[in-house]
Amino acid sequence: MSAKSKQNLSKIADILARYPSSRGSLIPILQDVQTELGYLSEEAILELERLTEISANEIYGVATFYTQFRFRPPSEHTVCVCEGTACHVRGAKQVLEEVKSRLGIEPGQSTEDGKFDLERVACLGCCALAPVVSVDGKVHAGMNAKKIVSVLSKYGDKKK
Ligand code: FES
Repeated sequence: MSAKSKQNLSKIADILARYPSSRGSLIPILQDVQTELGYLSEEAILELERLTEISANEIYGVATFYTQFRFRPPSEHTVCVCEGTACHVRGAKQVLEEVKSRLGIEPGQSTEDGKFDLERVACLGCCALAPVVSVDGKVHAGMNAKKIVSVLSKYGDKKK
């Protein structure tokens, strides 16, 4: 095990120490682990199993129920296409189709080069700017199929 992995696993004990009961606080514990490590690695889940009375199966059962948890390392950039009502009526579907086609992935997937994650969101809270796409939390307003291509290229999408 690398020094970094050991260091990461030691953070899990620190996180558990913050909560009186690991079973009753499993979701906030998993949120903290994800904040610290970027995702819920298999190593992290096995460490949680070792340090608590909760089996890895149960932990996976809870974590996979919630879309907020991820089980692979985050890519360099996260693209979130808003599909809320305001964005939907102004063409979010075409924007999403363009992003899918450019990146060659579906929502919930990552590009093989580890450059982009693609997510769908229900509302980014800035409906007046619809349709919107956020990249790494930065909101890009008034998107259409052409504009999103130029946004993605700024983040390193080289496809012509
Ligand atoms: S519906 Fe897209 S920002 Fe609200």
